[in-house]
Amino acid sequence: MAGTFTFTIIKPKAVAKGFIGPILNMISEAGFKIGALKMLHLTRTEAQRFYEVHLERPFYNDLVEFMISGPIVVAVLEKENAVEDYRKLIGSTDPAKAEEGTIRKKYAESMSANAVHGSDSDDNAEIESTFFFPSSEIF
Ligand code: CMP
Repeated sequence: MAGTFTFTIIKPKAVAKGFIGPILNMISEAGFKIGALKMLHLTRTEAQRFYEVHLERPFYNDLVEFMISGPIVVAVLEKENAVEDYRKLIGSTDPAKAEEGTIRKKYAESMSANAVHGSDSDDNAEIESTFFFPSSEIF
């Protein structure tokens, strides 16, 4: 399945502001099929583990705090060239630099409250999808 799927999180602030529907609509309009979807509240340990690769970064603790501040929505998105196409759809990590028409331009507030996460490689799409979904929950 390499190259045909990516993984996303709709982050706490975007969920709290009622943007689940509009964001899923943008994803669908862009041609992605939803292969898995659920809403959950991360524990601190889970958030620390998910963002382990950023452990040494100065923003790590704030990022973990933010990600456990409320429920999130996680999803596996299927499409040819999914990782690259989804990163184009979400726009720059810093919403101030995000291009017009991107999810982050429309719904993000700041670097941490940047509305959505998207995998940055096929390998990470696999790792991140299996972090949240057993294969029996990916369709
Ligand atoms: P995400 O796609 O979830 O992957 C890692 C997250 O770290 C990123 O989105 C941002 O929310 C956050 N992040 C990355 N760089 C910075 C930064 N310089 N300052 C604060 N947060 C950051």
